[in-house]
Amino acid sequence: MLVDSKIIRKNKFVKSNNKYHIISYGCQMNFADSEVVASILENIGYEHADNIENSNLILINTCSIREKAEQTIRKKLSSINFLKKKNKSLKIGVLGCMAERLKEKFLHEEKIVDLVVGPDAYRDLPNLLKEVEFGNDAVNVLLSKDETYADINPQRFNSNGISAFVSITRGCDNMCTFCVVPFTRGRERSRDPKSILAEIKQLEENGYKEITLLGQNVDSYLWYGGGLKKDFKKASEIQKKTSINFAKLLDIVAKSYPKFRIRFTTSNPQDMDTEVLITMKAHKNICNHIHLPVQSGSDKILKEMNRQHTRKEYLKLVSEIKTILPDCGLSQDMITGFPNETEKDHKDTLSLMNLVKYDFGFMFKYSERPGTLASRKLDDNILEEIKQRRLSEIIDLQFKHSFENLSKYVNKTTVILVEKESKKSKRFWAGRNEQNIMVVFPKEDFKPGDFVDVLVEENTATTLKGIALNKIK
Ligand code: SAH
Ligand code: F3S
Repeated sequence: MLVDSKIIRKNKFVKSNNKYHIISYGCQMNFADSEVVASILENIGYEHADNIENSNLILINTCSIREKAEQTIRKKLSSINFLKKKNKSLKIGVLGCMAERLKEKFLHEEKIVDLVVGPDAYRDLPNLLKEVEFGNDAVNVLLSKDETYADINPQRFNSNGISAFVSITRGCDNMCTFCVVPFTRGRERSRDPKSILAEIKQLEENGYKEITLLGQNVDSYLWYGGGLKKDFKKASEIQKKTSINFAKLLDIVAKSYPKFRIRFTTSNPQDMDTEVLITMKAHKNICNHIHLPVQSGSDKILKEMNRQHTRKEYLKLVSEIKTILPDCGLSQDMITGFPNETEKDHKDTLSLMNLVKYDFGFMFKYSERPGTLASRKLDDNILEEIKQRRLSEIIDLQFKHSFENLSKYVNKTTVILVEKESKKSKRFWAGRNEQNIMVVFPKEDFKPGDFVDVLVEENTATTLKGIALNKIK
Protein backbone atom coordinates (compact mmCIF):
# COMPACT_ATOMS: atom_id res chain seq x y z
CA MET A 1 0.00 0.00 0.00
CA LEU A 2 1.45 3.36 -1.01
CA VAL A 3 1.22 5.99 1.67
CA ASP A 4 2.86 9.09 0.29
CA SER A 5 3.88 10.25 -3.16
CA LYS A 6 5.63 13.18 -4.69
CA ILE A 7 6.94 14.03 -8.11
CA ILE A 8 8.69 17.31 -8.65
CA ARG A 9 8.53 18.72 -12.18
CA LYS A 10 10.81 21.14 -13.94
CA ASN A 11 10.45 22.18 -17.53
CA LYS A 12 13.46 21.14 -19.50
CA PHE A 13 13.86 18.50 -22.15
CA VAL A 14 16.53 15.82 -22.30
CA LYS A 15 16.61 13.14 -24.96
CA SER A 16 16.32 9.51 -23.94
CA ASN A 17 19.24 7.05 -23.70
CA ASN A 18 19.66 3.63 -22.26
CA LYS A 19 22.94 2.54 -20.68
CA TYR A 20 22.88 2.19 -16.91
CA HIS A 21 25.37 1.44 -14.19
CA ILE A 22 24.56 0.75 -10.52
CA ILE A 23 27.00 1.29 -7.67
CA SER A 24 25.97 -0.46 -4.45
CA TYR A 25 26.98 0.29 -0.89
CA GLY A 26 26.05 -1.24 2.45
CA CYS A 27 24.37 -4.49 3.37
CA GLN A 28 23.76 -7.58 1.24
CA MET A 29 20.12 -6.55 0.93
CA ASN A 30 21.24 -3.48 -0.98
CA PHE A 31 23.29 -5.59 -3.37
CA ALA A 32 20.29 -7.89 -3.87
CA ASP A 33 18.02 -4.87 -4.41
CA SER A 34 20.35 -3.50 -7.07
CA GLU A 35 19.78 -6.72 -9.00
CA VAL A 36 16.01 -6.18 -8.75
CA VAL A 37 16.49 -2.62 -10.01
CA ALA A 38 18.62 -3.92 -12.91
CA SER A 39 15.81 -6.29 -13.85
CA ILE A 40 13.24 -3.47 -13.83
CA LEU A 41 15.52 -1.32 -16.01
CA GLU A 42 16.26 -4.09 -18.51
CA ASN A 43 12.54 -4.74 -18.85
CA ILE A 44 12.13 -1.26 -20.23
CA GLY A 45 15.07 -1.52 -22.60
CA TYR A 46 18.01 -0.31 -20.55
CA GLU A 47 21.35 -2.08 -21.00
CA HIS A 48 23.94 -2.69 -18.31
CA ALA A 49 27.23 -0.78 -18.73
CA ASP A 50 30.37 -2.11 -17.08
CA ASN A 51 31.60 1.31 -16.06
CA ILE A 52 30.25 4.73 -15.26
CA GLU A 53 31.99 6.44 -18.19
CA ASN A 54 29.87 4.49 -20.68
CA SER A 55 26.54 5.05 -18.98
CA ASN A 56 23.83 7.62 -19.33
CA LEU A 57 22.16 6.63 -16.08
CA ILE A 58 24.20 6.11 -12.91
CA LEU A 59 22.32 4.84 -9.87
CA ILE A 60 23.88 4.76 -6.43
CA ASN A 61 22.27 2.34 -4.01
CA THR A 62 23.01 3.95 -0.68
CA CYS A 63 23.40 3.01 2.97
CA SER A 64 22.52 5.10 6.04
CA ILE A 65 23.53 2.70 8.78
CA ARG A 66 26.44 4.80 10.05
CA GLU A 67 27.44 8.40 9.43
CA LYS A 68 30.68 7.25 7.78
CA ALA A 69 28.74 5.25 5.17
CA GLU A 70 26.76 8.36 4.26
CA GLN A 71 29.94 10.47 4.03
CA THR A 72 31.54 7.94 1.67
CA ILE A 73 28.49 8.07 -0.59
CA ARG A 74 28.40 11.88 -0.60
CA LYS A 75 32.07 11.89 -1.68
CA LYS A 76 31.26 9.42 -4.44
CA LEU A 77 28.37 11.59 -5.62
CA SER A 78 30.52 14.67 -5.89
CA SER A 79 33.29 12.71 -7.57
CA ILE A 80 30.99 11.48 -10.36
CA ASN A 81 29.34 14.84 -10.82
CA PHE A 82 32.14 15.99 -13.18
CA LEU A 83 30.92 13.35 -15.67
CA LYS A 84 27.86 15.51 -16.22
CA LYS A 85 30.10 18.15 -17.80
CA LYS A 86 31.37 15.60 -20.34
CA ASN A 87 28.02 13.91 -20.93
CA LYS A 88 25.14 16.36 -20.93
CA SER A 89 22.52 13.64 -21.03
CA LEU A 90 23.90 11.79 -17.98
CA LYS A 91 21.38 11.30 -15.19
CA ILE A 92 22.29 10.39 -11.64
CA GLY A 93 19.91 8.70 -9.20
CA VAL A 94 20.07 7.90 -5.50
CA LEU A 95 18.42 4.65 -4.38
CA GLY A 96 18.09 2.94 -1.02
CA CYS A 97 18.27 4.06 2.58
CA MET A 98 19.80 7.53 2.08
CA ALA A 99 17.11 8.27 -0.49
CA GLU A 100 14.52 7.38 2.12
CA ARG A 101 16.24 9.34 4.88
CA LEU A 102 17.15 12.50 2.99
CA LYS A 103 14.38 12.56 0.36
CA GLU A 104 14.27 15.73 -1.73
CA LYS A 105 17.30 17.20 0.04
CA PHE A 106 19.40 15.54 -2.65
CA LEU A 107 17.55 17.30 -5.44
CA HIS A 108 17.28 20.67 -3.82
CA GLU A 109 20.42 21.12 -1.78
CA GLU A 110 22.94 18.94 -3.52
CA LYS A 111 21.67 19.50 -7.07
CA ILE A 112 23.78 16.62 -8.38
CA VAL A 113 20.93 14.17 -8.38
CA ASP A 114 18.03 13.83 -10.85
CA LEU A 115 16.23 10.91 -9.29
CA VAL A 116 15.57 9.81 -5.68
CA VAL A 117 14.01 6.38 -5.10
CA GLY A 118 13.44 4.69 -1.73
CA PRO A 119 13.80 0.91 -1.18
CA ASP A 120 10.09 0.14 -1.66
CA ALA A 121 9.56 2.26 -4.77
CA TYR A 122 11.72 0.59 -7.42
CA ARG A 123 8.70 -0.51 -9.44
CA ASP A 124 8.01 3.15 -10.04
CA LEU A 125 11.41 3.59 -11.75
CA PRO A 126 9.99 3.45 -15.31
CA ASN A 127 7.62 6.35 -14.51
CA LEU A 128 10.26 8.29 -12.67
CA LEU A 129 12.71 7.85 -15.54
CA LYS A 130 10.13 9.24 -17.93
CA GLU A 131 9.87 12.30 -15.73
CA VAL A 132 13.65 12.61 -15.79
CA GLU A 133 13.73 12.15 -19.55
CA PHE A 134 11.47 15.14 -19.91
CA GLY A 135 13.80 17.13 -17.73
CA ASN A 136 11.83 16.79 -14.53
CA ASP A 137 13.28 15.76 -11.22
CA ALA A 138 11.61 12.69 -9.76
CA VAL A 139 11.20 11.44 -6.20
CA ASN A 140 9.43 8.42 -4.82
CA VAL A 141 10.26 7.45 -1.28
CA LEU A 142 7.01 5.68 -0.46
CA LEU A 143 7.25 2.97 2.14
CA SER A 144 5.04 -0.01 1.49
CA LYS A 145 3.35 -2.58 3.68
CA ASP A 146 3.37 -5.33 1.08
CA GLU A 147 6.08 -4.74 -1.51
CA THR A 148 8.48 -7.68 -1.65
CA TYR A 149 9.39 -7.63 -5.37
CA ALA A 150 8.29 -11.28 -5.29
CA ASP A 151 7.66 -11.57 -9.04
CA ILE A 152 10.82 -9.82 -10.19
CA ASN A 153 13.63 -12.07 -11.29
CA PRO A 154 16.86 -10.28 -10.31
CA GLN A 155 19.53 -9.60 -12.97
CA ARG A 156 22.56 -11.13 -11.28
CA PHE A 157 25.12 -8.64 -12.51
CA ASN A 158 26.99 -8.62 -9.16
CA SER A 159 27.24 -12.36 -8.99
CA ASN A 160 30.02 -14.93 -9.42
CA GLY A 161 27.53 -17.32 -11.01
CA ILE A 162 27.86 -19.77 -8.11
CA SER A 163 26.34 -18.16 -5.05
CA ALA A 164 23.28 -15.88 -4.98
CA PHE A 165 21.18 -13.96 -2.47
CA VAL A 166 17.45 -14.59 -2.30
CA SER A 167 15.45 -12.03 -0.29
CA ILE A 168 12.79 -13.55 1.96
CA THR A 169 11.78 -10.63 4.13
CA ARG A 170 11.95 -6.86 3.84
CA GLY A 171 12.02 -4.20 6.53
CA CYS A 172 12.37 -4.70 10.26
CA ASP A 173 9.97 -4.31 13.21
CA ASN A 174 12.54 -4.58 15.96
CA MET A 175 13.24 -0.93 16.64
CA CYS A 176 16.69 -1.32 18.14
CA THR A 177 17.18 2.20 19.50
CA PHE A 178 20.42 2.86 17.56
CA CYS A 179 19.20 1.61 14.18
CA VAL A 180 17.93 3.58 11.21
CA VAL A 181 16.74 0.51 9.23
CA PRO A 182 13.12 0.45 10.51
CA PHE A 183 12.82 4.07 9.32
CA THR A 184 14.47 3.61 5.94
CA ARG A 185 13.14 0.16 5.05
CA GLY A 186 9.79 0.18 6.80
CA ARG A 187 7.71 -2.57 8.35
CA GLU A 188 8.69 -6.19 8.25
CA ARG A 189 6.96 -8.28 5.59
CA SER A 190 7.58 -11.79 4.31
CA ARG A 191 7.71 -12.97 0.74
CA ASP A 192 5.46 -15.68 -0.68
CA PRO A 193 7.32 -19.03 -0.39
CA LYS A 194 6.16 -19.98 -3.91
CA SER A 195 8.04 -17.05 -5.39
CA ILE A 196 11.09 -17.86 -3.25
CA LEU A 197 11.08 -21.42 -4.59
CA ALA A 198 10.56 -20.21 -8.16
CA GLU A 199 13.59 -17.93 -7.85
CA ILE A 200 15.74 -20.78 -6.52
CA LYS A 201 14.58 -23.02 -9.38
CA GLN A 202 15.78 -20.41 -11.88
CA LEU A 203 19.10 -20.21 -10.09
CA GLU A 204 19.47 -23.98 -10.23
CA GLU A 205 18.71 -23.95 -13.96
CA ASN A 206 21.38 -21.29 -14.40
CA GLY A 207 24.03 -23.40 -12.70
CA TYR A 208 24.12 -21.78 -9.25
CA LYS A 209 25.16 -23.99 -6.32
CA GLU A 210 24.48 -21.92 -3.22
CA ILE A 211 21.85 -19.50 -1.97
CA THR A 212 21.73 -17.21 1.01
CA LEU A 213 18.21 -16.47 2.25
CA LEU A 214 18.28 -12.82 3.10
CA GLY A 215 16.44 -10.54 5.49
CA GLN A 216 17.12 -8.07 8.30
CA ASN A 217 15.72 -10.70 10.67
CA VAL A 218 15.18 -13.99 8.82
CA ASP A 219 14.04 -15.98 11.86
CA SER A 220 11.04 -13.72 12.05
CA TYR A 221 9.85 -14.88 8.59
CA LEU A 222 6.13 -15.66 8.60
CA TRP A 223 3.92 -16.31 5.58
CA TYR A 224 0.20 -16.65 6.17
CA GLY A 225 -1.03 -15.55 2.77
CA GLY A 226 0.40 -12.03 2.85
CA GLY A 227 0.21 -9.19 5.32
CA LEU A 228 2.45 -7.78 7.99
CA LYS A 229 3.91 -9.95 10.71
CA LYS A 230 2.33 -7.73 13.33
CA ASP A 231 -1.16 -8.45 11.91
CA PHE A 232 -0.80 -12.25 12.22
CA LYS A 233 -2.97 -12.14 15.36
CA LYS A 234 -5.89 -11.07 13.17
CA ALA A 235 -5.40 -13.90 10.63
CA SER A 236 -8.08 -16.59 10.25
CA GLU A 237 -7.69 -20.01 11.91
CA ILE A 238 -6.98 -21.63 8.56
CA GLN A 239 -4.32 -19.01 7.77
CA LYS A 240 -2.72 -19.63 11.14
CA LYS A 241 -2.75 -23.40 10.65
CA THR A 242 -1.22 -23.27 7.19
CA SER A 243 1.26 -20.52 7.99
CA ILE A 244 4.94 -21.03 7.22
CA ASN A 245 7.58 -19.87 9.68
CA PHE A 246 11.32 -19.68 9.05
CA ALA A 247 12.04 -23.26 10.17
CA LYS A 248 9.34 -24.57 7.80
CA LEU A 249 10.63 -22.43 4.95
CA LEU A 250 14.17 -23.72 5.52
CA ASP A 251 12.85 -27.27 5.57
CA ILE A 252 10.91 -26.81 2.32
CA VAL A 253 13.86 -25.17 0.54
CA ALA A 254 16.34 -27.80 1.77
CA LYS A 255 14.06 -30.67 0.72
CA SER A 256 13.18 -29.15 -2.65
CA TYR A 257 16.81 -28.41 -3.56
CA PRO A 258 18.94 -31.12 -1.93
CA LYS A 259 21.95 -30.27 -4.11
CA PHE A 260 21.94 -26.61 -3.18
CA ARG A 261 23.96 -25.28 -0.30
CA ILE A 262 21.70 -23.13 1.83
CA ARG A 263 22.77 -20.23 4.02
CA PHE A 264 20.77 -17.51 5.72
CA THR A 265 21.39 -14.14 7.31
CA THR A 266 20.72 -12.29 9.59
CA SER A 267 19.44 -14.00 12.71
CA ASN A 268 18.13 -11.94 15.54
CA PRO A 269 18.78 -13.74 18.85
CA GLN A 270 15.29 -13.10 20.20
CA ASP A 271 13.63 -14.77 17.19
CA MET A 272 15.93 -17.73 16.62
CA ASP A 273 14.40 -20.87 18.10
CA THR A 274 15.09 -24.56 18.64
CA GLU A 275 12.93 -25.50 15.64
CA VAL A 276 15.37 -23.70 13.32
CA LEU A 277 18.35 -25.48 14.90
CA ILE A 278 16.65 -28.87 14.57
CA THR A 279 15.86 -28.13 10.93
CA MET A 280 19.50 -27.21 10.34
CA LYS A 281 20.58 -30.49 11.92
CA ALA A 282 18.08 -32.48 9.83
CA HIS A 283 19.45 -31.23 6.49
CA LYS A 284 23.05 -31.69 5.42
CA ASN A 285 22.66 -29.01 2.76
CA ILE A 286 21.89 -26.25 5.28
CA CYS A 287 25.23 -24.74 6.25
CA ASN A 288 26.18 -24.80 9.90
CA HIS A 289 26.85 -21.13 10.30
CA ILE A 290 24.82 -18.58 12.21
CA HIS A 291 25.44 -14.86 12.11
CA LEU A 292 24.09 -13.86 15.49
CA PRO A 293 24.63 -10.13 16.19
CA VAL A 294 24.68 -9.35 19.90
CA GLN A 295 25.84 -5.68 19.87
CA SER A 296 26.89 -5.70 23.56
CA GLY A 297 27.61 -8.08 26.42
CA SER A 298 26.13 -5.77 29.04
CA ASP A 299 22.53 -6.19 30.18
CA LYS A 300 22.25 -2.48 30.87
CA ILE A 301 23.30 -1.58 27.32
CA LEU A 302 21.20 -4.36 25.73
CA LYS A 303 18.17 -2.89 27.49
CA GLU A 304 19.00 0.66 26.38
CA MET A 305 19.41 -0.67 22.84
CA ASN A 306 15.97 -2.30 23.07
CA ARG A 307 17.45 -5.65 22.16
CA GLN A 308 14.78 -8.07 23.35
CA HIS A 309 17.07 -10.45 25.22
CA THR A 310 19.48 -10.47 28.13
CA ARG A 311 23.10 -11.58 28.15
CA LYS A 312 22.03 -14.77 29.94
CA GLU A 313 19.36 -15.57 27.32
CA TYR A 314 21.85 -14.96 24.52
CA LEU A 315 24.42 -17.27 26.13
CA LYS A 316 21.72 -19.91 26.63
CA LEU A 317 20.93 -19.73 22.92
CA VAL A 318 24.62 -20.05 22.05
CA SER A 319 24.92 -23.07 24.30
CA GLU A 320 21.85 -24.64 22.68
CA ILE A 321 23.38 -24.02 19.23
CA LYS A 322 26.63 -25.65 20.34
CA THR A 323 24.76 -28.65 21.77
CA ILE A 324 22.51 -29.25 18.76
CA LEU A 325 25.10 -28.26 16.11
CA PRO A 326 28.54 -28.85 17.65
CA ASP A 327 30.44 -27.75 14.56
CA CYS A 328 28.36 -24.64 13.89
CA GLY A 329 30.27 -21.49 12.95
CA LEU A 330 29.23 -18.37 14.85
CA SER A 331 29.79 -14.73 14.00
CA GLN A 332 28.77 -11.43 15.57
CA ASP A 333 28.05 -7.73 15.09
CA MET A 334 29.13 -5.52 17.97
CA ILE A 335 28.70 -1.83 18.73
CA THR A 336 31.10 -0.11 21.08
CA GLY A 337 30.70 3.28 22.73
CA PHE A 338 26.91 3.27 22.92
CA PRO A 339 25.68 6.17 25.16
CA ASN A 340 26.53 5.69 28.85
CA GLU A 341 28.68 2.62 28.17
CA THR A 342 31.03 2.29 31.17
CA GLU A 343 34.30 0.36 31.42
CA LYS A 344 32.34 -2.35 33.20
CA ASP A 345 29.86 -2.59 30.30
CA HIS A 346 32.80 -2.81 27.90
CA LYS A 347 34.40 -5.55 30.03
CA ASP A 348 31.07 -7.41 29.91
CA THR A 349 31.31 -7.35 26.11
CA LEU A 350 34.86 -8.71 26.23
CA SER A 351 33.84 -11.42 28.69
CA LEU A 352 30.87 -12.45 26.53
CA MET A 353 33.22 -12.74 23.56
CA ASN A 354 35.52 -14.90 25.68
CA LEU A 355 32.60 -17.18 26.48
CA VAL A 356 31.30 -17.51 22.91
CA LYS A 357 34.59 -17.36 20.98
CA TYR A 358 33.11 -16.30 17.63
CA ASP A 359 34.80 -17.27 14.37
CA PHE A 360 34.56 -13.75 13.02
CA GLY A 361 32.66 -10.52 13.53
CA PHE A 362 31.81 -7.04 12.34
CA MET A 363 32.60 -4.41 14.94
CA PHE A 364 31.57 -0.78 14.88
CA LYS A 365 31.83 2.42 16.88
CA TYR A 366 28.40 3.74 17.82
CA SER A 367 27.27 6.31 15.29
CA GLU A 368 24.31 8.45 16.27
CA ARG A 369 21.63 8.34 13.57
CA PRO A 370 19.14 11.23 13.40
CA GLY A 371 15.55 10.22 14.16
CA THR A 372 16.38 7.02 16.08
CA LEU A 373 15.18 6.66 19.66
CA ALA A 374 18.78 6.68 20.94
CA SER A 375 19.45 9.99 19.20
CA ARG A 376 16.31 11.51 20.71
CA LYS A 377 16.68 10.16 24.24
CA LEU A 378 20.37 9.58 24.87
CA ASP A 379 23.46 11.73 24.73
CA ASP A 380 26.23 10.43 22.43
CA ASN A 381 28.53 10.90 25.41
CA ILE A 382 31.43 8.50 24.93
CA LEU A 383 34.56 10.33 23.82
CA GLU A 384 35.87 9.42 20.38
CA GLU A 385 39.22 8.22 21.76
CA ILE A 386 37.44 5.96 24.26
CA LYS A 387 35.21 4.53 21.52
CA GLN A 388 38.31 3.93 19.41
CA ARG A 389 40.26 2.27 22.21
CA ARG A 390 37.33 -0.02 23.10
CA LEU A 391 36.82 -0.86 19.45
CA SER A 392 40.51 -1.79 19.11
CA GLU A 393 40.28 -4.03 22.17
CA ILE A 394 37.24 -5.81 20.76
CA ILE A 395 38.85 -6.21 17.34
CA ASP A 396 42.07 -7.54 18.90
CA LEU A 397 40.15 -10.08 20.97
CA GLN A 398 38.12 -11.18 17.94
CA PHE A 399 41.34 -11.54 15.97
CA LYS A 400 42.75 -13.81 18.70
CA HIS A 401 39.59 -15.97 18.76
CA SER A 402 39.43 -16.12 14.96
CA PHE A 403 43.04 -17.27 14.78
CA GLU A 404 42.52 -19.90 17.50
CA ASN A 405 39.29 -21.19 15.95
CA LEU A 406 40.73 -21.38 12.44
CA SER A 407 43.88 -23.15 13.65
CA LYS A 408 41.64 -26.04 14.78
CA TYR A 409 41.07 -26.86 11.09
CA VAL A 410 44.79 -27.44 10.42
CA ASN A 411 45.53 -31.06 9.42
CA LYS A 412 41.82 -31.70 8.93
CA THR A 413 39.70 -31.74 5.80
CA THR A 414 36.88 -29.32 5.13
CA VAL A 415 34.43 -29.21 2.22
CA ILE A 416 34.40 -26.02 0.21
CA LEU A 417 32.39 -24.74 -2.72
CA VAL A 418 34.80 -23.17 -5.23
CA GLU A 419 33.58 -19.64 -5.92
CA LYS A 420 36.30 -17.55 -7.55
CA GLU A 421 39.99 -16.90 -8.01
CA SER A 422 41.84 -16.00 -4.83
CA LYS A 423 42.44 -12.23 -4.56
CA LYS A 424 46.05 -12.83 -3.61
CA SER A 425 47.10 -15.31 -6.30
CA LYS A 426 45.90 -16.29 -9.75
CA ARG A 427 47.15 -19.81 -9.06
CA PHE A 428 44.64 -20.36 -6.23
CA TRP A 429 40.90 -20.87 -6.01
CA ALA A 430 38.89 -19.41 -3.11
CA GLY A 431 35.65 -20.65 -1.60
CA ARG A 432 33.97 -21.00 1.77
CA ASN A 433 33.37 -24.00 3.96
CA GLU A 434 29.98 -24.45 5.56
CA GLN A 435 31.06 -22.42 8.61
CA ASN A 436 31.54 -19.49 6.20
CA ILE A 437 35.33 -19.49 6.50
CA MET A 438 37.35 -18.59 3.42
CA VAL A 439 39.58 -21.38 2.15
CA VAL A 440 42.22 -21.08 -0.60
CA PHE A 441 44.09 -23.85 -2.43
CA PRO A 442 46.06 -24.40 -5.70
CA LYS A 443 43.71 -24.56 -8.67
CA GLU A 444 44.81 -27.80 -10.34
CA ASP A 445 41.91 -29.14 -12.44
CA PHE A 446 39.12 -27.88 -10.21
CA LYS A 447 36.72 -25.17 -11.30
CA PRO A 448 34.17 -22.75 -9.81
CA GLY A 449 31.02 -24.60 -8.78
CA ASP A 450 32.90 -27.74 -7.68
CA PHE A 451 32.51 -29.02 -4.14
CA VAL A 452 36.02 -29.96 -3.04
CA ASP A 453 37.53 -31.69 -0.01
CA VAL A 454 40.46 -29.55 1.12
CA LEU A 455 43.18 -30.67 3.53
CA VAL A 456 44.02 -27.57 5.56
CA GLU A 457 47.74 -26.94 6.05
CA GLU A 458 47.89 -23.48 7.59
CA ASN A 459 45.73 -20.58 8.70
CA THR A 460 45.59 -16.86 9.38
CA ALA A 461 42.82 -15.20 11.40
CA THR A 462 40.61 -14.96 8.32
CA THR A 463 41.66 -17.66 5.87
CA LEU A 464 42.52 -21.35 5.69
CA LYS A 465 45.08 -22.52 3.16
CA GLY A 466 45.41 -26.10 1.99
CA ILE A 467 45.46 -28.58 -0.85
CA ALA A 468 42.45 -30.05 -2.61
CA LEU A 469 42.13 -33.82 -2.23
CA ASN A 470 39.17 -34.63 -4.42
CA LYS A 471 36.01 -33.32 -5.96
CA ILE A 472 32.82 -34.34 -4.20
CA LYS A 473 30.14 -35.66 -6.53
N1 SAH B 1 19.62 -7.22 11.38
C1 SAH B 1 20.39 -6.47 10.46
C2 SAH B 1 21.24 -5.47 11.07
C3 SAH B 1 21.52 -4.43 10.06
S1 SAH B 1 22.62 -3.29 10.56
C4 SAH B 1 21.15 -7.34 9.50
O1 SAH B 1 20.60 -7.85 8.58
O2 SAH B 1 22.38 -7.49 9.61
C5 SAH B 1 24.14 -4.23 10.64
C6 SAH B 1 24.92 -3.89 11.86
O3 SAH B 1 25.30 -2.52 11.85
C7 SAH B 1 24.15 -4.05 13.16
O4 SAH B 1 24.07 -5.37 13.59
C8 SAH B 1 24.94 -3.18 14.10
O5 SAH B 1 26.01 -3.89 14.69
C9 SAH B 1 25.52 -2.10 13.18
N2 SAH B 1 24.83 -0.82 13.39
C10 SAH B 1 23.54 -0.54 13.14
N3 SAH B 1 23.27 0.74 13.50
C11 SAH B 1 24.42 1.25 13.98
C12 SAH B 1 24.78 2.52 14.53
N4 SAH B 1 23.89 3.50 14.66
N5 SAH B 1 26.06 2.70 14.92
C13 SAH B 1 26.98 1.72 14.79
N6 SAH B 1 26.70 0.50 14.30
C14 SAH B 1 25.43 0.27 13.90
FE1 F3S C 1 18.30 -2.74 12.94
FE2 F3S C 1 17.78 -4.13 15.08
FE3 F3S C 1 16.35 -4.49 12.87
S1 F3S C 1 19.80 -3.73 14.25
S2 F3S C 1 17.73 -4.00 11.22
S3 F3S C 1 16.39 -2.66 14.12
S4 F3S C 1 17.11 -6.09 14.28
